[in-house]
Amino acid sequence: MKQIHSIDEVRAAISAWREVGDTVALVPTMGNLHKGHISLAKLAAEYAEHVVVSVFVNPTQFGPNEDFDAYPRTLAADARKLSHAGMDIMFAPSVKEIYPRGLDNGTQVLVPGLSDQLCGAARPGHFAGVTSVVCRLLNICAPDVAVFGQKDYQQWIILRKMVADLHSPVRLVAGPTMREKSGLAMSSRNSLLDDAQRDKAASIFSALIGVEQQLQAGRRDYAKLEDEAAGHIRDAGLETEYVAIRRSLDLGMPEKDTPRLSVLAAARLDKVRLIDNVLVELSQ
Ligand code: PAF
Repeated sequence: MKQIHSIDEVRAAISAWREVGDTVALVPTMGNLHKGHISLAKLAAEYAEHVVVSVFVNPTQFGPNEDFDAYPRTLAADARKLSHAGMDIMFAPSVKEIYPRGLDNGTQVLVPGLSDQLCGAARPGHFAGVTSVVCRLLNICAPDVAVFGQKDYQQWIILRKMVADLHSPVRLVAGPTMREKSGLAMSSRNSLLDDAQRDKAASIFSALIGVEQQLQAGRRDYAKLEDEAAGHIRDAGLETEYVAIRRSLDLGMPEKDTPRLSVLAAARLDKVRLIDNVLVELSQ
């Protein structure tokens, strides 16, 4: 596997594949790779002959008081894991390479509306940073397919809208969330938690599953279900930021007869912010 740091070099490698008619998938990540990322990379390999995994801790998606500096950076271990998984390229550019005119002077890509809700309400500017960097990565690599995790469900819906609105010639694919035995969604930020904290954090998933069961049993009092789940997470010792039941399609507010719902949650355990979601297909 090649480790590439410059835009020119990754473009040259991709062009060489294109010249022989091969297809390319991109998996954007912020590194500190775990089994969830590797499953996305392997899923990408089912869609294209070559896979580029980008590793870039994107400063523009972190707020001033967030954990940009503390975000775990493990490039050498990431390279080993990607090489072991049979990936072609790890593209790990510098901040200067991606934002040559500085962080405040670059063009921003904004998806209005949804970017300010749910996680966007607690993290102003976060999704503008995500869409601005993903647009750049898509322009750099021009992949046929780009793969993202369903764990970041709001990000997924926002990126789908961005690609549709901008007529970007790329197919987006979502990969399922990988979980620890306890149900805790795998996340790079889990490495900041000790074992006891990880046990507590599993309450997020159990709360979401509890809501799913209640929905399947016929309850549609969404606000009450959200409150009960928020209480379950709080009782485990976390600070619940939100639990929300939304339409899966676009994260709009659901009606009583909406058939596909997403139940999303965000909570903090000390300084670590965790998110998760489940998709619920109602049979009645
Ligand atoms: O999901 C992530 O890890 C990041 O938000 C992404 C898509 C790599 C953009 O920096």
